[in-house]
Amino acid sequence: MQTQHRIIFGNSQQMSELEDGSVQLMVTSPPYPMIAMWDELFVKDPKIADFFRELDTSSNGETVRQIYGSMHDYLAKVWAETYRVLVDGGIACINIGDATRSINGKFQLYPNHSRITEVCEKIGFTTLPYILWKKPTTKPMYKGKGAFLGSGFLPPNAYVTLDCEFILLFRKGKLRKFPPKDALRYESVFTKKERDEWFSQIWSFKGARQTSTDLERRTAAYPEEIANRLIRMFSVKGELVLDPFLGSGTTTKIAIQNERNSIGYETDPNLLPIITKKTDTTKEAIVKIIKRQKN
Ligand SMILES: C[S@@+](CC[C@H](N)C(=O)[O-])C[C@H]1O[C@@H](n2cnc3c(N)ncnc32)[C@H](O)[C@@H]1O
Repeated sequence: MQTQHRIIFGNSQQMSELEDGSVQLMVTSPPYPMIAMWDELFVKDPKIADFFRELDTSSNGETVRQIYGSMHDYLAKVWAETYRVLVDGGIACINIGDATRSINGKFQLYPNHSRITEVCEKIGFTTLPYILWKKPTTKPMYKGKGAFLGSGFLPPNAYVTLDCEFILLFRKGKLRKFPPKDALRYESVFTKKERDEWFSQIWSFKGARQTSTDLERRTAAYPEEIANRLIRMFSVKGELVLDPFLGSGTTTKIAIQNERNSIGYETDPNLLPIITKKTDTTKEAIVKIIKRQKN
């Protein structure tokens, strides 16, 4: 089956290229609020930049809450656009990690998964049971630093390691309906082994192989297996899959492999060569790169 893929260099807070109710599945991993590597991206929003400036001059806990809240406001605009473009019964899958961070000497957990769940419910989504992606263990933390140091065996000042990420699942409206014996739906069948493994709550495999260039590391790609499972679990061959935070193009690559159409949004034009390399896989897929005139 020939499939069509659009990569839009533009901001997914407005997806004017997509009509209401035109997408069957959204699969994504956004920049994670309160993870330092994404600060540079979030401060492009003038409101968030102002809060960071305020933080430099005070150790006010309220400012930290405002930074955290406004990072989620930034993402919320994309979740609301996703709701608009999904078909009735369409599914949204969001891979997100919680964050821990010490700010002005205060260590704290930022539970991104629960904030996104609250926001998506307010938008109108139905929350479905989520998946925990268990990553290979990193070192436990002592007083907010990356290792236990000498006191590693003494209670009570160590923190539990964040070694799981969430794959949050939401549905717009009621269950999707299909005509009896819908051919493409039957062609998209998964095996009993796949069903038992994929629909269980804990998934355990390594993170994406991070290649050496700084730019590729900065995309924080998720494992192809995450996109592969979600696309096969929640869409049918020939349907349209959206990734509003495309990064290196993993979702497009896996949509191509699974004979789904796709559309991805990315704000960073420097990622074009990485995306092109990743998605240049088969002649059966037509990949169009579109640069918006205005972001
Ligand atoms: C965590 S990365 C996605 C990684 C991706 N799953 C992969 O496998 O490569 C998030 C990406 O979202 C992009 N981004 C952030 N805000 C955006 C927005 N408003 N619209 C489109 N892309 C955005 C960032 O530039 C970054 O590349």
